[in-house]
Amino acid sequence: MSTKIRIGALISGSGTNLQAIINGCERGTLSGQMVFVGSDNPDAAGLERAKRSGIPTFVVDYASIIQKCSKSSQKLSAPPDFNLDEAISKQDFFGSKADAEKTKFFLTTRAIAEAQLLSRMKAFAYDLLVLAGFMRNLTPYFIDRVNTKRSEPRIMNIHPSLLPAFPGIDGYGETFRYGCKVGGCTVHFIDYGEDTGPIIGQRAFQISDTDTVDSIREKGLKLEWQLYPECIQLYAEGRLKTKKMTYTSGGGQKNERTIVRIEPPTS
Ligand code: GRF
Repeated sequence: MSTKIRIGALISGSGTNLQAIINGCERGTLSGQMVFVGSDNPDAAGLERAKRSGIPTFVVDYASIIQKCSKSSQKLSAPPDFNLDEAISKQDFFGSKADAEKTKFFLTTRAIAEAQLLSRMKAFAYDLLVLAGFMRNLTPYFIDRVNTKRSEPRIMNIHPSLLPAFPGIDGYGETFRYGCKVGGCTVHFIDYGEDTGPIIGQRAFQISDTDTVDSIREKGLKLEWQLYPECIQLYAEGRLKTKKMTYTSGGGQKNERTIVRIEPPTS
């Protein structure tokens, strides 16, 4: 068994994935210790789950920050170390044709909230940050301050679809509406786009004609609760290596792709 890693989590809602990770830590199937749980939503039920296990919690209320910033009377006061041009050039949420004011508002308001998250997180030493149903996109401002070593990403997310299909907030709903025969979930590292980072693990399930959105979500969540702790355990064992690989396409053109290689266990 590897040494225990210190895990921080961000949540927005019910926290069933958070619970699966806490359970893994408590039962010893996961070599980790949950050191904090933060939420953008003061009413997230997952906060109670953390408290029950004696894990420190905090809230940065995104909705009220964004609402305050929307009032024209209130000037946006970005963090002093925030560089808007840098954030615009790195972000991958909006294309070059996007409304400039909208992009600026998004990146600035999120950086204001993210600076508060970072300041709360500063109180805790952590090795890995897991997003467990955290329904906010993190911007380059936040990501660069957590991923201090460029080649070693340390923010993981779980997404309710087989990426790259159906990024965004309603993976299971979109899987259902599209009439897919297979659904699934994906654990990946975070990058500057929406659900675009390098994939660590995926799990799939069959969908039949009689399935509903609810039954699809139920099947998916059951797999999420297995997959997320397993991927975190691979991280704890130091077995996840993010690599840029080149390949040659049909026309002989050289391209690059990023993969997460799972190294064999040592010993
Ligand atoms: C999960 O389906 C997860 O994939 C998605 O949000 C949902 C969170 O559920 N990102 P819970 O809060 O872990 O119960």
